[in-house]
This record gives sequence, structure tokens and C-alpha cells, in this order.
Amino acid sequence: MTTDILVLNGSPRRESESAFLAERIAGAAGYAFESAALYTRRIRPCTACLACAETGRCVLDDDDMGALRRRIHEARGLIVASPLHFTSLSAPVVALFSRLEPDWLAYNASAGRTAPRPHAGAAALAVAGGSDRRGMFEPARRVAAAAFATLRRVNLGVAAAANTEAVAVRENRIALGQAERIGGALRITLDGMRG
Ligand SMILES: Cc1cc2nc3c(=O)[nH]c(=O)nc-3n(C[C@H](O)[C@H](O)[C@H](O)COP(=O)(O)O)c2cc1C
Repeated sequence: MTTDILVLNGSPRRESESAFLAERIAGAAGYAFESAALYTRRIRPCTACLACAETGRCVLDDDDMGALRRRIHEARGLIVASPLHFTSLSAPVVALFSRLEPDWLAYNASAGRTAPRPHAGAAALAVAGGSDRRGMFEPARRVAAAAFATLRRVNLGVAAAANTEAVAVRENRIALGQAERIGGALRITLDGMRG
């Protein structure tokens, strides 16, 4: 059976702040969800062979990306959870996004069509950072937005918990409010895709 919402958990931590936020989004959406822990999976980064430009398929078949790709394509709701690591998304998330090259080539080929292809669902980013600086989530937001567009997902935005060194996400009313709002929008999107 296909899961409605897939959480891609890009945190290496057992008590993850970003995964907590992602699950809040899924909970607020009110649909069944499952999580895939990226740190326990092998995800090789794209090697830029560009074989996918000829075949539409990735030649790397000795890791977990094939199974993950299928789950990503099947899930109508996608939530990426990631800590900030050196100002960006964590390494497995970036590796996974690099492997969306076949999807990007298909997305790019469809650009400029008069009749846009319908969206394949919705996506959101749940991100946590230890510091508290203006614009600190901007690199992560932009990278995730590119991935979501590639996957033809409506981008529902970012739930972001800053200053986790001082304030745990479960006490961060701003971040929790963002998660609730995104979850509500996700519910509306998934309701609209029913049937
Ligand atoms: C290797 C590493 C790099 C980090 N880089 C940043 C950073 O650039 N900016 C920041 O605000 N926090 C940074 N942090 C702190 C984490 O983003 C923070 O602890 C976050 O809440 C962890 O989220 P998680 O529990 O979901 O993994 C870094 C932590 C680690 C381990």
C-alpha cells in the first residue's frame, strides 16, 4: 500500500529536533505517514555520468536510492527533515537530492510547455539549527525548493527551529506554529488529490 506522507529524516541524531518538527507537520496533516532514516541508508552522490540523459534512469544500482526513489515518487506528501550542517542541509539529504538528476532532466524537458503538467503532490522542509542568525535557513530553503520543483511538488514552505542550543523545538512556539500551518496546507492538498 502507498503511504500518503513520506518523511525523509536527514538527521543523524536519535532525539532529532528537525524530525520532531517534520512529524508535527505530518500529524497536523492527519494522514498516515512513514519515515525513512537517511543516515541508516547508503546513498551515493551523483557521479555526473549523465547516462540518465540518454535513458532517463540512474545507472547507480548498488545502494538504497532506487528503493527510496520509488517511495518518493509514490508519496503524495513529502517532508524533508534536516539539521543545518555547515549552513546547509545534511550530507545524505544533499546526496539524495543530487540523485534527482533524472527527475530534473524530465522536469527541464517539460519547461515551456503551454499546458503545465499537474503537480504530483506537496512537499515541505523541517529544519533545525543550533544558532540564531538572520537568514540562517536561506541556503537550506533554496536547495529544498529546487528539489521540490524538480519533483513537481507544491512547495508548502519551511518550518524552522533556530537556536536549538538554547530552546528545544518542542518549546519553540514559532516553529511549532509553522509546522501546524504547513500541516493544515498539506491536509488540504492531499484532500484535493483524493479519489
Ligand atoms: C557538523 C555540524 C554542523 C552544524 N552546523 C550548523 C550551522 O551551520 N548552523 C547552525 O545553526 N547549527 C549548526 N549545527 C547545529 C545543528 O544544526 C543543531 O544542533 C540542530 O538542532 C540539530 O538538528 P537535529 O536534532 O534534527 O539533527 C551543526 C551541527 C553539526 C553536528
